[in-house]
Amino acid sequence: MAYSTTMTEDKDSWRPDSWQACNASQQPVYSDHAQVGDVVERLGKLPPLVTSWEVEALRDHIAAAQAGEAFVLQGGDCAETFADCRSEIIAQKLKILLQMSLVLLYGLQKPIIRIGRMGGQYAKPRSADMETRDGMSLPSFRGDLVNRGDFTPEDRVPDPELMLRGYERAALTLNFIRSLIDGGFADLHHPENWDLDWVQHSPLADEYHEITGAISKSLDFFESISGNQVHATRRIEFYTSHEGLQLPYEQAQTRFLKHRGKWYNLCTHFPWIGMRTAAVDDAHVEYFRGIVNPMGIKLGPGMTADWLLGLIEKLNPDNVPGRLTLIHRFGAEAVEDGLPRLIETVAATDARVLWMCDPMHGNTESSSTGLKTRRFENILAELEASFRIHRDMGTWLGGVHFELTGENVTECTGGARGLKDTDLERAYHTQVDPRLNYEQAMEMAMLLAGLRR
Ligand code: PEP
Ligand code: CO
Repeated sequence: MAYSTTMTEDKDSWRPDSWQACNASQQPVYSDHAQVGDVVERLGKLPPLVTSWEVEALRDHIAAAQAGEAFVLQGGDCAETFADCRSEIIAQKLKILLQMSLVLLYGLQKPIIRIGRMGGQYAKPRSADMETRDGMSLPSFRGDLVNRGDFTPEDRVPDPELMLRGYERAALTLNFIRSLIDGGFADLHHPENWDLDWVQHSPLADEYHEITGAISKSLDFFESISGNQVHATRRIEFYTSHEGLQLPYEQAQTRFLKHRGKWYNLCTHFPWIGMRTAAVDDAHVEYFRGIVNPMGIKLGPGMTADWLLGLIEKLNPDNVPGRLTLIHRFGAEAVEDGLPRLIETVAATDARVLWMCDPMHGNTESSSTGLKTRRFENILAELEASFRIHRDMGTWLGGVHFELTGENVTECTGGARGLKDTDLERAYHTQVDPRLNYEQAMEMAMLLAGLRR
């Protein structure tokens, strides 16, 4: 049964709910469709989380990155959780992203566009619909937006009300981020405000403070000789993103803005499509083609030239600058083989895209102690290979995509402290994929910026 959104105008028979006529993978099976419809309607009446002018601004920034004039840093949890909607966790995540962006700004000498995997990254694709433990099979956990993680029949039932709870937490998260930024938290004149407690004890602390000191000094110098404040550095821009997976949720806040004559998804600035849901004729691509937000598409080893060209044609038929970001995630080994042919495929057209590397999702493995982990050196190796391949082929790798947290977790091995498999149990908290901890993320930014001694 359909959950429809009130229509203002038609566009090539696309509607916010036209995806419902297509095959939709990775969707939960709700038992009560009327209840889903009711939730979508209630969600749609709530005020939006983001505005169309922010969405437009981000698309322009990404267009600049496509032209090699800016660089995108996208990062955050694999899966945000409702329980982690807490001030310290949000502030720490914002801090690490700000610190990384500062290091990248200094090292790359380009404006850095910051996009959090925040304020809605609550739904996860799963490799199997069901999970079996001790002979009992229950629906897989699909993220807090869909069902609950505990392994009981009640918890695993998909509950439409969770979309409302998720929307509320996304709003709380964004409200806090916006207030922190407006209050001067991100003022480049005072990077000491962003220090996390344990940066003081990090082997990287000296290097980091040298960088922030140098930036503060050059700002002061510039301002004293010009007599002007560098306004842009007092308040920064910060954008949100999540995988646009749970389609009733995405549909609910999809609005036609009369003054712009276009449809926007107003629950995030930058939604992306995972490869598992990127079949050209399927529901997700149908939904995404009708909204004007800038968007990402994840590309892995299974992506073919025809498939990619089909996606580009359907999602950006007018070749709008800033519209498409191709996020490749091959893994350190497969990238050498897989990336060049996709670059060639796109280069043979006049399609405008931003190339971004996600060095996390192709490098997941099992530790010797049976935990899902990623090695720092493999993440770095994929990044280095990707930069080299793009440089050799004359394309600009204009962004990176990380799973990270501002907490001192032990989920990925390696880095300056040389975390080993046996260290992982100490603070392994992730709900889905292993994240870089604060220090590993900082180190990665320093290496990326070419600033590590
Ligand atoms: C993710 O970004 O969390 C994710 C599931 O990635 P991918 O779809 O690329 O595996
Ligand atoms: Co993930």
